Amino acid sequence: MTLLIIGGTGLLGRQIVRKALENGFEVRCIVRNKNAANFLKEWGAELVYGDLTLPETLPLSFQGITAVIDASTRNATDSIELIKVDWYGKLILLELSNSINVQRFIFLSILNCEHYPDIPLMRMKYGIEKLLKDSTIPFTIFKYAGFFQTLINEYAVPILDQKPIRIMLDVKRICYVDTQDAAFLCIKSLSLKKTVNKIFCTGSAQSWNPNEIIKLCEKLSGQKANIKIVSKVFLKILRGITGLFEWSLNISDRLAFVEVLSNSKNFIPAIEYTYKIFNINPKELLELDFYFREYFEIMLTMLDVVDNISIDKNRNAKTSII
Ligand SMILES: NC(=O)c1ccc[n+]([C@@H]2O[C@H](COP(=O)([O-])OP(=O)(O)OC[C@H]3O[C@@H](n4cnc5c(N)ncnc54)[C@H](OP(=O)(O)O)[C@@H]3O)[C@@H](O)[C@H]2O)c1
Repeated sequence: MTLLIIGGTGLLGRQIVRKALENGFEVRCIVRNKNAANFLKEWGAELVYGDLTLPETLPLSFQGITAVIDASTRNATDSIELIKVDWYGKLILLELSNSINVQRFIFLSILNCEHYPDIPLMRMKYGIEKLLKDSTIPFTIFKYAGFFQTLINEYAVPILDQKPIRIMLDVKRICYVDTQDAAFLCIKSLSLKKTVNKIFCTGSAQSWNPNEIIKLCEKLSGQKANIKIVSKVFLKILRGITGLFEWSLNISDRLAFVEVLSNSKNFIPAIEYTYKIFNINPKELLELDFYFREYFEIMLTMLDVVDNISIDKNRNAKTSII
C-alpha cells in the first residue's frame, strides 16, 4: 500500500509519516521545500515537490497511490493564504483522489467546526467534511481539540520564561491528544474496514481546563505562573471590533478560536466511541501530566547544565584576572 501524505513536515504529519513507515507502508510526501523536509527522506519517505496553492504541481504525486492522508493546513491566523490551502487546495486533493479511485482519504478536522460557520477555518473544515460525505471517496475523518505539543508554547514556555499566560476563567474542560497517539489512530484506521466513511473525535481520556494545566506546570517546574485573566465579554467585544477591518481580520479569527474552546461541549462520549471502534484501552494513550513531566525534566536539566557552564566560565574568568 502506498500512502500519499500532505503536510508531512507538520506537528502531526511527521508523526503520521513515521508511524506509516514503521508499519511497513510505502510513503510519498508532497512537500514545498525538499531541504527542510530532508528528515522525512532520512526516515525512508519519498519526497515530491508540490504546493497546494499551485495546482499544476500536484497530479504527478498521485501516480500509484492507494490512500491519501491530508495533514496540511495553513496557519489559522493567515486569512489570505488560508482559503488557498484549506479550501481550494483541498478541493484539488479530493478531485485527484477521486480520479485515481483512491481506497481511502483521511482528513484531519477540528472539533465542533460545524458549529462555527462564521470562523473561516471552521467553515472550510466543515465544508470539506460535507464534500467527503457526499462523495464516493471512501473516507475517515479525525477531529481534534488540540495537541499536547501546542500546549508547550501556550503554558510551559511562558512559565519558564516568566511571561504572562492569558486565560479565561470559565473555559470548559478539553481532552487534548499527543500527536504520536493521533498518528497511531490514523494509521490503524487504514487496516480497519469499520472506520470507512466514519468520523472520529480524538483525545486522551483525561480532560483539562487552563487552570488545571497551569497548576500542573507550576508543580512540575517549581515556578509560579504569571496569570492574566481575560473576560469572555471583553473578547467578544474585541472580536466584533477587529472583525470590522481588513487589517485586523487575523486577530479576529484568533479570538474566535478562544471562543470555540471556551464553548466546547462535552465530547467524552464521542472519544469513548473512538476507543471502542479502534479496540484500544484509553490507558494506552499518553496523558498530559506524563507528557509535561517529561518535558519539564528535560528542560530543567538543560537549564541546570547551562547555569553550571556559565558559573564555571565566570570562575575561570576571575581566576585568569587574579
Ligand atoms: N494543531 C492543533 O492543535 C490542531 C487542532 C485541531 C485540528 N488540527 C488539524 O490537524 C492537522 C495537522 O495540524 P498541525 O498542527 O500538525 O499542522 P502544522 O504543524 O501547522 O503543519 C501544517 C503542514 O501543512 C503544510 N502546508 C502548509 N501550506 C502548504 C501548501 N501550500 N502546500 C503544501 N503543504 C502545505 C506545512 O508544510 P511546510 O512545512 O511547507 O510549511 C506543514 O507540513 C491540520 O489539518 C489541522 O487543521 C490541528
